[in-house]
Amino acid sequence: MKSLHSFLIFISLVGILSAYTYKARSLGSSTSPAQQLDLTLQGYGFSAFVRPHTGVVYDATVPLNLTGIKVSVVRLRSGSLWSRGVKGFKEFGIPVGVLVHPYVERLALVYQNLGNWSSVYYPLPGFTYLAPVVGLLAYDAANLSANNFQEIDFVASKSPISINFTNVVPVPTELTPQCVWFNLDGLPEFRELVTENVCSTYQQGHFSIVVNSTRLAPPAPIGAPTLGPSPSHHKKHNSKVWKIVAGVVGGFIGLLFATLLLVWLHRYKEKKEVAKMEQHAEIGETLQMTRIGNAQAPVASGMRTQPMLENEYVA
Ligand SMILES: *[C@@H]1O[C@H](CO)[C@@H](O)[C@H](O)[C@H]1NC(C)=O
Ligand SMILES: *[C@@H]1O[C@H](CO)[C@@H](O)[C@H](O)[C@H]1NC(C)=O
Ligand SMILES: *[C@@H]1O[C@H](CO)[C@@H](O)[C@H](O)[C@H]1NC(C)=O
Ligand SMILES: *[C@@H]1O[C@H](CO)[C@@H](O)[C@H](O)[C@H]1NC(C)=O
Ligand SMILES: *[C@@H]1O[C@H](CO)[C@@H](O)[C@H](O)[C@H]1NC(C)=O
Repeated sequence: MKSLHSFLIFISLVGILSAYTYKARSLGSSTSPAQQLDLTLQGYGFSAFVRPHTGVVYDATVPLNLTGIKVSVVRLRSGSLWSRGVKGFKEFGIPVGVLVHPYVERLALVYQNLGNWSSVYYPLPGFTYLAPVVGLLAYDAANLSANNFQEIDFVASKSPISINFTNVVPVPTELTPQCVWFNLDGLPEFRELVTENVCSTYQQGHFSIVVNSTRLAPPAPIGAPTLGPSPSHHKKHNSKVWKIVAGVVGGFIGLLFATLLLVWLHRYKEKKEVAKMEQHAEIGETLQMTRIGNAQAPVASGMRTQPMLENEYVA
């Protein structure tokens, strides 16, 4: 009974774990267009590194079908990123005290300016972009001739990284623009502006300045066109939620089946053991009958549990 109990706990753990791995796989396999763009732009960015000098900013060229997007790269030692920062990497001002995780000796920072593609890759229903979406991402740059570059994380541990937007579209003073930060999963978070054109961050991702478009009378004419509600974004989000729910429900159904199977197995084993015992009893009785002959009936029950006695008795 004790081993059955621990086995049930084990099965529950397996069920829960498999629900989680299902979730992780379903989210991982459905890369969003924005995440695919990150990969593409990282590729074009890294091709701008031809015998790169550490700390020098290189502008990459993007293909014709992405005209309007700008990409720049800089390669750094993580020690120098920590102790010196990067004064002006396009809109980004990187202070001292930025830590990378996992630790790599050399990293590459990739800057993106999505220009008129901002609302295509980062649709934000109900808001209007007042500046193009800009991105700052970090990759392991130990081996520039490798094909796969590992994305790495970083965090500003002393003071935040500033993002100084140029040419922010002015809005009437009664409206309050906000900073928006898209983390690597593409989820938006809103924050207050530091000054009228500066946002700040402690982490990597994509950034812009937005305003609630409900009260914005004439759609602001800017590189980023006005945003209508985007059904695709909602659908994507819903399908993600649906996949998580399906994963969890699937996990629990699996767990239920496993438990039922186990209980059934346990019963089956018990039944089989009873049958075996009965069988043994019969054999015991026959043996006894044949060997001991006339002393059958009274000794029978004792013989069943102590077969060793029988041998002694006979010998
Ligand atoms: C741009 O064109 C390249 C081929 O030159 C193609 O592989 C890529 O998918 C296209 N990207 C977009 C966003 O259309
Ligand atoms: C952005 O502008 C470029 C020309 O500057 C154009 O080729 C491209 O199609 C535009 N992209 C979008 C999404 O409108
Ligand atoms: C925009 O503002 C209106 C009222 O001013 C409010 O009802 C609406 O929820 C806001 N939209 C968002 C997305 O915050
Ligand atoms: C860098 O990557 C390339 C391609 O994957 C590989 O052939 C080469 O050995 C790597 N160099 C180092 C120093 O790891
Ligand atoms: C932002 O840039 C402008 C000019 O491009 C400069 O005057 C201003 O001081 C900068 N602000 C910050 C916080 O870096």
